[in-house]
Amino acid sequence: MTTTQTGLGTYLERILKRHGRDSGRLVQILRDVQAEFGRVSAEAMAILAERLSLPIGDVESTRDFYSFLTSEPTGTYRILFSDNITDRMLGNQAIFDHMARRLGVSRGVVSADGLASLDYTSCTGMCDQGPAILVNGMAITSMTLRRADQICELVRSRVPVAEWPNEFFRVDHNIRRADMLLGTDFTPGSALRAAVAMGREAYLAEVKRSNIRGRGGAGFTTGVKWEAARNARGDARYVVCNADEGEPGTFKDRVLMQFYPERVFEGMALAAYVVGAKLGLVYLRGEYLYLKAPLEEKLSELRAARLLGDSILGVDGFDFDIEIHMGAGAYICGEETALIESLEGKPGRPRIRPPFPVSFGYRGQPTVVNNVETLCKATEIALHGGAWYEGFGTKQSTGTKILSVSGDVERPGIYEYPFGVRISQVLDDAGAKNPKAVQISGAAGQCLTTREFGRRIAFEDVPTAGAFMVFADHRDMFEVARNFAHFFQHESCGFCTPCRVGTRIQAGIMDKIAAGHGTQYEMNELQHLREVMRTASHCGLGQTAGGAIADTIAKFREDYEKRLARKDFEPAFDLDAALARAREITGRDDADSRMLSDA
Ligand SMILES: Cc1cc2nc3c(=O)[nH]c(=O)nc-3n(C[C@H](O)[C@H](O)[C@H](O)COP(=O)(O)O)c2cc1C
Ligand code: SF4
Repeated sequence: MTTTQTGLGTYLERILKRHGRDSGRLVQILRDVQAEFGRVSAEAMAILAERLSLPIGDVESTRDFYSFLTSEPTGTYRILFSDNITDRMLGNQAIFDHMARRLGVSRGVVSADGLASLDYTSCTGMCDQGPAILVNGMAITSMTLRRADQICELVRSRVPVAEWPNEFFRVDHNIRRADMLLGTDFTPGSALRAAVAMGREAYLAEVKRSNIRGRGGAGFTTGVKWEAARNARGDARYVVCNADEGEPGTFKDRVLMQFYPERVFEGMALAAYVVGAKLGLVYLRGEYLYLKAPLEEKLSELRAARLLGDSILGVDGFDFDIEIHMGAGAYICGEETALIESLEGKPGRPRIRPPFPVSFGYRGQPTVVNNVETLCKATEIALHGGAWYEGFGTKQSTGTKILSVSGDVERPGIYEYPFGVRISQVLDDAGAKNPKAVQISGAAGQCLTTREFGRRIAFEDVPTAGAFMVFADHRDMFEVARNFAHFFQHESCGFCTPCRVGTRIQAGIMDKIAAGHGTQYEMNELQHLREVMRTASHCGLGQTAGGAIADTIAKFREDYEKRLARKDFEPAFDLDAALARAREITGRDDADSRMLSDA
């Protein structure tokens, strides 16, 4: 081992110690290495592999999977611009270009002095206060050219990010409509006391009675999930809170984690009480790093109040504690089995199901995975009972739903409604100006037009995990769909061919159409690709990756057609242009030296 390696080894040893030398915490370890050294080098990987007794290929494939981990150095100040369509609508590209000029850097390239690097990243979950950026992982919202100038000055003067003005890092809740969850005070411990007073079985019966369905997208019945995990065979049981929230346009879990953490943690403890879990894991998306320290503090308070730890509320054997794990920039890790892989220190690739997490989850044991909002709702059921809860919403969609509203509205933010609310009501409340479309449930969701604004938010009509992006009549829906196509190409985990290749071809076709080279042939190809991905992809990402394009072709065809070339087909490769240099060298320009496409 060289002297430099010995020095590096000492630093790495400190990081490894912090994580109990647990190879299952590899993602957390690599995050710390990245933060300390600005990259995860081949040398660092070799040392980690040896000390964790892992094959180096495993460490490498984990590093290479996550976009926040890099093999090459990033700038001392790593600046990433959120690139959701809503950030674009708020002018993120002009601010990016301005900053790149002022810092003298190009996209993806570190400045010559190593000081700064600038790039785009997928939606950072700040759509109500964009354009947003991350600087060394910390979120900065409401970017303007003026703020960009201030940041450039701080970077040039090498002021540590921790000393930047506090107001840069302010993240507002923007709660615009509060209902039974957001509008009700909560005393920590009250829901747990109510559940313990009822007893395990009775509380589970109330959860089932409420008919509550998961808020993470799939809408699975929570009581059934909890019961299955409780009944499954295992040496240990786990409760996982899915706070990955990577769907473009959604940010309600961020607000719950920041302003209602007691509800989230108590919901986890309630699930643990029912299933008999001793450990809970919060999987917090890497983009929400700013929440980690306050959440850790909240956990300490709950331990001090004996609402976490051993014999909670004096119940013998009710021992439960919670750890926070950070994601590292991968949307797919919101899918519950990919999330579990990531929690185990691996690349976040979705598992083959069955078995489902309730019987074979974290470390092969029965595991409940629930969305942040679902867990908050569990506290309401403990406090008021299943029958009360069932009284809100619709028959198949009980209770309330929190929507993340952004785009062309006067009042972007969080809106809580009983299920069954009409799209038009939400648009009115948010102050939508001449809306022509709403993209529900993010890039993976559906696009609704004015004729559908009378429809209702509910599993039986328009299901949603919560994103509600509004587009006014001057917006170009082709560009909206193109932004989503690039998002899916970037976020595909690469495990299965229909999605890995399909998302790439799809984004390529959208670029070809944007450049004016698309024809009817490409339009047909997009429809065909959508079907292939929908039917043959391994997980929900690939299955939904063509939905927004199919919807916008069906409903806003003119936005595509105005770009199409007046031909049946135009090749992706322009042979004549490629031969131009050869003609120049040989001095020829006769008909035979040309491959004219019309010939
Ligand atoms: C590509 C993809 C991304 C997902 N992202 C999230 C997410 O960010 N948060 C979430 O709660 N569920 C997400 N899900 C759904 C989860 O797999 C899972 O159904 C959910 O966490 C279960 O919790 P619930 O029953 O409380 O809804 C995603 C699913 C897919 C296919
Ligand atoms: S569908 Fe896409 S994201 Fe899902 S497993 Fe296949 S490649 Fe990965």
